[in-house]
Amino acid sequence: MSKKKIIHLIAAARPNFMKIAPLYHALKKEDRVDPLIVHTGQHYDVNMSDSFFKDLNLPVPTLHLGIGSGSHAEQTGSVMIAYEKEIIKERPDLVVVVGDVNSTVAATLASVKLGIPVAHLEAGLRSFDRKMPEEINRIVTDSIADFLWTPSPDGDENLLREGVSKEKIFRVGNIMIDSLEMLRSKIEIQETFKEFDLQPDEFGLITLHRPSNVDKLEKLSKLCQILIRVSKKLPLIFPVHPRTWKNLVKFDLLKNLEKTEDIYLVEPLNYIRFMSLVFNTKIVITDSGGVQEETTYLGIPCFTLRSNTERPATVTQGTNELCDSENIENRIEQILRCEDVQHSIPELWDGKTSERVVSTIKNILAIHSEN
Ligand code: UD1
Repeated sequence: MSKKKIIHLIAAARPNFMKIAPLYHALKKEDRVDPLIVHTGQHYDVNMSDSFFKDLNLPVPTLHLGIGSGSHAEQTGSVMIAYEKEIIKERPDLVVVVGDVNSTVAATLASVKLGIPVAHLEAGLRSFDRKMPEEINRIVTDSIADFLWTPSPDGDENLLREGVSKEKIFRVGNIMIDSLEMLRSKIEIQETFKEFDLQPDEFGLITLHRPSNVDKLEKLSKLCQILIRVSKKLPLIFPVHPRTWKNLVKFDLLKNLEKTEDIYLVEPLNYIRFMSLVFNTKIVITDSGGVQEETTYLGIPCFTLRSNTERPATVTQGTNELCDSENIENRIEQILRCEDVQHSIPELWDGKTSERVVSTIKNILAIHSEN
């Protein structure tokens, strides 16, 4: 039997882990490839990283670059330098990057310059807002990667418009739904809401971490006031991202939230406990990308505190609504007064994306299973 092809799966930050897990497990079943996880270390807290590896049944990463926090240039540069050393030592046959974080673009740059093929999972998404660091990461990654796996037709259209050749684009669907389906039975028995003495459908769930929402005093303070008012109608569970926590402390906003009776502040939750809350919540208020997709799939009303989204299907087909601090309270009230939310699930968000990715990988690497 010929030597196994080495595939690096690059994982860096919380939303990446749910994207590499189904692919890792699917590739592990193949006899001609050896999938190896490379953790850049961009997220390093136990509850931002290790707990996800455990829930998603992922092994300890083969390589850990340990780059940690820093400015954009520091993070991107550190990953490039550390990863280049590794791939010079032992050259993989394919590098898979996911999502849009700083490590995604960094690993892509390091690899393509050494002539190593790169595939981008979740390619083609565009918010058309270049003030978002993620938008820059997406544009650069997609313009130099060799294979582009898209989740929805808008992804294909964006890439074609930017001049990417059709042969590089493969519509594979939404890999996040694979993780959700893979762990559905564990999520369904979890009942995290009981830890807060709450009942299904009788609470709301909050996640906020975008720099545009949490890095400036005025904006964050306004959002806190809104959450306090909403909590008087619906108790709110708020797992607080480290970036947001630091800023709540820095701007002296934390105390006010802490003393609000119906706001439950908790550390970031692991995947299964968090998804148990998503399954049972009445509404979600968020600025996350992945949560917009999970709520669309589950038919849960989602209010996204952003002026744009790189995931337009969640608005046109799903339950997502873009809001700002001026209209969000009204919209929540309408939903609480029992407005019906119409929705459909976008095509290929079916839990089978990893299978489709594996079949394109076999073509890319020109291998065919021996089992
Ligand atoms: C990053 C991604 C963003 C993604 C988000 C999910 C980029 C540009 N941004 O943003 O796209 O939606 O992850 O969480 O790549 N920190 C900790 N512990 C950790 C990780 C971070 O305390 O495990 C602190 C850092 O010290 C830093 C802050 O949180 O002050 C932000 O971390 P960083 O990785 O820079 O960006 P995120 O806001 O997490």
